[in-house]
Amino acid sequence: MLAQRRILLIIGGGIAAFKSLDLIRRLRERGALVTPVLTRAGTEFVTPLSVSALAGEKLYSDLFDLTDEAEMGHIELSRSADLVLVAPATADLMAKMAQGHADDLASTLLMATDTPVMIAPAMNVRMWEHAATQRNLATLRADGITVVGPNEGDMACGEFGPGRMAEPLEIVAAVERALAEGPLAGRRVLVTSGPTHEPIDPVRYIANRSSGAQGAALAAALRDLGAEVIFVTGPARVPPPAGVTVVPVETAQEMLVAVESALPVDAAIFAAAVADWRMAQASDRKMKKTKGGSLELHFAENPDILATVSRLEADRPALVVGFAAETDDVIENAKAKRQRKGCDWIVANDVSHATGIMGGQENDITLITGDGAEDWPRMGKADVAARLAARIAEVVTGA
Ligand code: CTP
Repeated sequence: MLAQRRILLIIGGGIAAFKSLDLIRRLRERGALVTPVLTRAGTEFVTPLSVSALAGEKLYSDLFDLTDEAEMGHIELSRSADLVLVAPATADLMAKMAQGHADDLASTLLMATDTPVMIAPAMNVRMWEHAATQRNLATLRADGITVVGPNEGDMACGEFGPGRMAEPLEIVAAVERALAEGPLAGRRVLVTSGPTHEPIDPVRYIANRSSGAQGAALAAALRDLGAEVIFVTGPARVPPPAGVTVVPVETAQEMLVAVESALPVDAAIFAAAVADWRMAQASDRKMKKTKGGSLELHFAENPDILATVSRLEADRPALVVGFAAETDDVIENAKAKRQRKGCDWIVANDVSHATGIMGGQENDITLITGDGAEDWPRMGKADVAARLAARIAEVVTGA
């Protein structure tokens, strides 16, 4: 619930502005107070009257409106809110924010505010993918701004791809998370999960038995503690939890790219069962059976995502946690793995077939930290996740 929480909603000039009308209703249904700000371009898409009628509040739209300045200056306006939400955030607004422009009411408010800021980008797919927008996005993330969406789909301009503004209810969920009061509120945590698929040819791939259950449970537990969770997942059987930012990938190489672009984060948990090998050269045609019946495949080593992030000089998360799925000498192997990969903790588990852990409901883990090994009793994956999330929160918040 958002009872009595004040949201300063900046509506940019894009076709998605029509969804912001519904967004206002949804926020108010949950008890939020919405102060609307409409950019000049925004007035081309929605009328000031409909915005202020739905918000039930005065609309602010121009920096040089002297009456408003007398009533409430832009500094005060920007700080009277619990959250500043920009929806839709156009490519132009994002560029202004990244550069620190202050040439109209919206950009000035964004410069003057000391409250958390969230943006819901919406633009044509090419504009979203443009290097300049991606640079601005990275800058805004590094500045601590929360980003919700965009989603992939059909666009008003007739193209298809990422660029559609997140749906009002998704934005509301992100607002609720941002204003949540758990110990990880305001923190960003990355979780990798699921198997990877490494193509052999267009129809075949190398995979493993990971269901993604432990990673999904962990993402949900971290979300419940108030964290913004970036969930980078391979093709898993267990669906991702609601209320996290899902980044779907197929291969280890794609997973590395997704992980690197999610940084910086406060903690990174690597629960994915990443394939160590890929085909040296995946065939772009279906491989046919040959007479004689033998087949030779040539492999190349995949990047080690956990080791890469553990060794970063800039942007290394304060806590890096790996998993070690072992079948023999579990503790010894996991300790060696912690050293070799340079991570802070290893969550070790025995995945021998008889344990039923891989793909099952329960987990039996040993947590290996710099202080030694802790044996946890066998419990459900959700309980492992809750206990691990609480330990992560202690480290991240210094509690
Ligand atoms: N991992 C990763 N990238 C890889 C391989 C593994 O990020 N290319 C991460 C996993 O997400 C997990 C940890 O490293 O957190 C250990 O994975 P595991 O498969 O047990 O280790 P391996 O590196 O495969 O080591 P070994 O083959 O010796 O068991």
